[in-house]
Amino acid sequence: MEDHLPQSVRVERRPVSEGESRRANGPDWDRYADEYQATHGAFLGDAGFVWGPEGHTEDELGILGEVDGLDVLEVGSGAGQCSRWVRTHGGRGFGLDLSHRQLQHSLRLDEETGVAVPSVRGTATELPFASAAFDIVFCSFGALQFISDIDDAVAEVARVLRPGGRFAFSVTHPTRWMFPDDPGDAGLTATQSYWDRTPYVEVDDASGVVSYVEHHRTLGDWVRLLAGHGFTLHDLVEPEWPEHHDRVWGGWSRARGLLTPGTAIFVAHIRSS
Ligand SMILES: C[S@@+](CC[C@H](N)C(=O)[O-])C[C@H]1O[C@@H](n2cnc3c(N)ncnc32)[C@H](O)[C@@H]1O
Repeated sequence: MEDHLPQSVRVERRPVSEGESRRANGPDWDRYADEYQATHGAFLGDAGFVWGPEGHTEDELGILGEVDGLDVLEVGSGAGQCSRWVRTHGGRGFGLDLSHRQLQHSLRLDEETGVAVPSVRGTATELPFASAAFDIVFCSFGALQFISDIDDAVAEVARVLRPGGRFAFSVTHPTRWMFPDDPGDAGLTATQSYWDRTPYVEVDDASGVVSYVEHHRTLGDWVRLLAGHGFTLHDLVEPEWPEHHDRVWGGWSRARGLLTPGTAIFVAHIRSS
């Protein structure tokens, strides 16, 4: 969902390790956080829960089910808007994010709204929580597509969930990886193989340092990942572009959204054993 690309940056598709992904994405989100919150904060809502650029909310979709009285972890929580929504609905929402600056925005919103989301800086591949500590884990475009070692992240979610607990997450719809990330007509012609999992990488031209990474998994990859870590998949929600929605967010636009899905929301439960 990044929509910033300085001129001094070149784009590549090439393999990148988990360490390199994290070293790039943490500082990148630190640099980008102020602009991200200034651009998208009002759309997200300080205590709102939006699942993706199409603007569908948890109030509309009911992906998490009842959260009242439950322990809920948001991975890649950013400024904690979704977890703040959980708190206003009776859940004990907690946040985790890689970016220090995103978490500073979370603290700012805690103060401004009077609804505090206890949050920790960390990575989705090593959750700093006890096993079976949560009833629900979710990500709204948080963390998962920025991670190379996705097996470790899904295993960690399985570990911290209580038996029968729910895991729900939204990511860029995997079919979008066939198209240029362009909100206009150019974004409607498939130019890349859906099955090419080579990561999207931005490299700073001057230093050669990797400054941003996103990882692609096909729909089948996600199903296999979930099944392989003891999850049962209950739903795959592909939100349609709303009739009167006309907001552009990076490569998401009305022109593309009316024809192709932009967001995939997976809903799974960990088997009770
Ligand atoms: C697109 S933002 C989404 C944030 C929030 N869910 C929202 O809707 O605004 C992605 C977030 O994932 C975080 N992130 C990236 N890699 C991560 C990782 N390895 N572990 C935890 N968070 C990560 C980023 O710092 C960023 O805040």
